[in-house]
Amino acid sequence: MSISPNPAPLGPCPIPSPRQIVEHLDRSVIGQDRAKRTLAIAVSNHYARLLDAVDRNSPTPILGDASLRHVTIEKSNVLLIGPSGSGKTHLARALAEYLSVPFTIADATTLTEAGYVGEDVETILHKLLVAAGGDVQAAKGGIVYLDEIDKLGGGRVHGVKDLRLGVQHALLKMIEGTVANVPPSGGYKLVGETCIPFDTTNVLFICGGAFVGLEEVVAGRLGRGASFGFDRSGSDHHEEVEGVLRHVLPGDLEAFGLIPELLGRLPVIASLDRLGIEDLVRILKEPTNSLIGQYRKLLAYHRASLVISDGALREVARIAHERGTGARGLRAILERVMEPVLFDPRPWACYVVTEAAVRGGDVEVIPGMPGLGLAPLRARVAGRTAGGMKPSS
Ligand SMILES: Nc1ncnc2c1ncn2[C@@H]1O[C@H](COP(=O)(O)OP(=O)(O)OP(=O)(O)O)[C@@H](O)[C@H]1O
Ligand SMILES: [Mg+2]
Repeated sequence: MSISPNPAPLGPCPIPSPRQIVEHLDRSVIGQDRAKRTLAIAVSNHYARLLDAVDRNSPTPILGDASLRHVTIEKSNVLLIGPSGSGKTHLARALAEYLSVPFTIADATTLTEAGYVGEDVETILHKLLVAAGGDVQAAKGGIVYLDEIDKLGGGRVHGVKDLRLGVQHALLKMIEGTVANVPPSGGYKLVGETCIPFDTTNVLFICGGAFVGLEEVVAGRLGRGASFGFDRSGSDHHEEVEGVLRHVLPGDLEAFGLIPELLGRLPVIASLDRLGIEDLVRILKEPTNSLIGQYRKLLAYHRASLVISDGALREVARIAHERGTGARGLRAILERVMEPVLFDPRPWACYVVTEAAVRGGDVEVIPGMPGLGLAPLRARVAGRTAGGMKPSS
């Protein structure tokens, strides 16, 4: 935690603004502007809450207005929903890189009720403690991203469902604020082991889940018909589907087996959109850690270079979009195209991936020579692009 106990009254604001947080997220997460804004506001407010807890009792408070001293800023936990592969976990990871408060990502599918095989809910807090370097005080102001929350309502087998409900009730207390007992070893509570008391009142919880089929539930409630808008290839429909998730209400999520008490503790809902073809093209090339950047780097270690035509990028995006797996599908498609190149990269060669190569043709190879540098190769590739690149063996 970077907030000092006695902040200077007129010093710079120690709270990152939502705009600053979004600017950071923009570097690696394409699109999803509404979700980014909602998340950034929640995180910035979380910082304000932590600062307020210190400021209230400070002899030199930042806030000059005495009437605000006794106003409590309440916790606003967030529920992040969106189709598979739309960037929920990715967004949480990008957020983690930015934050100066302890942050951990936990997976709800691994959790079980205390006493059963699996992880107790307290393991989440243990992860936060580890993220805080063992500093309990700092961990108490941390943020937890609890992924795959929708899977907590999915048990249909008799018995499994009860177990999942038990986990939901345990989470409920933790999210609302309780003093949990965290085993210092992180695993099961051992007999005689002294647990660490952990007050979760100031921990911010962000829960994420895909809730497969949610669009149909919301559309049904809105009276637009259950079958509407699910032809993923049609861009008109795409617009409509995007609109639907924006209207989600906590009641729609109860259909997925989440108990109303739990949903009630997640008052802020941020929805991510299904990614369109243009988004997928941008994801291929724009983020700092883009897939194309990664392949270029891999080849660079073999002293080879890579050129991918715009048509090829679009074709990869189109196939991924058709498969309906979001950005997750991009890697598998590119991996198939790049496999022969990566298997035996020729030093100094330039590999040219065209739309035809993505459709199953060969990746063109332009041989190069040591010492020649990349400039002449680039000129040749540019010449071909101008005249329309053709794949050759
Ligand atoms: N909006 C995005 N911008 C940039 N990359 C993205 C985006 N969405 C997804 N990706 C890429 O796709 C991969 C899969 O996305 P992610 O794991 O975040 O999906 P998810 O929404 O959590 O899906 P699931 O519900 O199946 O867990 C990420 O690792 C990232 O590389
Ligand atoms: Mg995920």
